[in-house]
Amino acid sequence: MTTLVTHIASLVTNDPSLGDGPLGLIQDAAVVIDGDRVAWVGETSKAPATDNRVDAEGRAGIPGFVDSHSHLVFAGDRTAEFNARMSGRPYSAGGIRTTVAATRAAADTDLAATLDRYLAEALRQGTTTMETKSGYGLTAADESRALRLAADRTDEVTYLGAHIVAPEYADDPAAYVDLVTGPMLDACAPHARWVDVFCEQGAFDGDQARAVLEAGMKKGLLPRIHANQLSYGPGVQLAVELGAASADHCTHLTDEDVDALAGSGTVATLLPGAEFSTRAKWPDARRLIDAGATVALASDCNPGSSFTSSVPFCIALAVRDMGMTPDEAVRAATAGGAAALRRTDIGRVAVGARADLVLLDAPSHVHLAYRPGVPLVSAVWRAGRREV
Ligand code: NIG
Ligand code: FE
Repeated sequence: MTTLVTHIASLVTNDPSLGDGPLGLIQDAAVVIDGDRVAWVGETSKAPATDNRVDAEGRAGIPGFVDSHSHLVFAGDRTAEFNARMSGRPYSAGGIRTTVAATRAAADTDLAATLDRYLAEALRQGTTTMETKSGYGLTAADESRALRLAADRTDEVTYLGAHIVAPEYADDPAAYVDLVTGPMLDACAPHARWVDVFCEQGAFDGDQARAVLEAGMKKGLLPRIHANQLSYGPGVQLAVELGAASADHCTHLTDEDVDALAGSGTVATLLPGAEFSTRAKWPDARRLIDAGATVALASDCNPGSSFTSSVPFCIALAVRDMGMTPDEAVRAATAGGAAALRRTDIGRVAVGARADLVLLDAPSHVHLAYRPGVPLVSAVWRAGRREV
């Protein structure tokens, strides 16, 4: 079955060969969806005939958001911790332990229901691809359970056994790294595409992070990393050296870190929801973009540091506080996310791409930043299926 969506006031294709500027903008655009793919893109006046027609009535169109960083397999919440933070207490990696205890105690059905809830919440806000991680189990059984549940719901699944040192190993972090790179990895690798590590004070140092990523790579997993979130550190350099798809957070960067990212294929993924919810300094997107780095924006949705599934919210923050233009922020949340996941079939609206299309109750994508907090998403197709 083919569907023609017409009268899209302005369509972001992310394909400069299709329209104006880096966003490949087309005015009064139309898109033909055939099965799960985009079959045609152009001006409404030139559109071919199809089985079905949907009139966008002057709404803007964008590719579905590619949210390349979230932690959705969890139980419980951290309202008290958030409240304490907003009264002045600093964020630290240690809060993760609260969620680990709740997640271990939860039934599979409860974890699945939570995952479904937040994936649906994100979809309603225009997210058509969501990466998600383990990292709140920290035993072989709990981590592999998290990954199985995630893999039933998304292709982009990340093994984060190295989120923090499990409480049982507090006195022997080296033994925990042996577990993460040994039996836990064996149990988890079949369910994941990516391996990740939280390289940070209070979590894992550079040598430990390298051991975790290299062990995962030997098992066929692709590396990505939580790097330079709370402090300066070796994470970004390690990411570039290992050819990681993405270094995530990138809040505390030296000039050498920025240069390394700019000269590499590693995407700098910025997660402003975390800086918002931890009252931290903003990552400097402008500095990264001006240096030539590829930037992605993602939600980091998790119950501790960033309990938002809203990519539009992250776009608004990035424009207001991180020096991005609206065009750059929308591109980072779509094509940027796709690059951070090494995907070429998503993050753009072009012939052959997966038909992930979002219509906004607004005449242009700029309104995502111009009208912060307003639910502008009015229609979502994912893989050609109308979901919203
Ligand atoms: O990306 N940085 C490490 N992990 C998460 C926070 C997890 C938590 O606080 O529960 C993050 O911000
Ligand atoms: Fe994270």
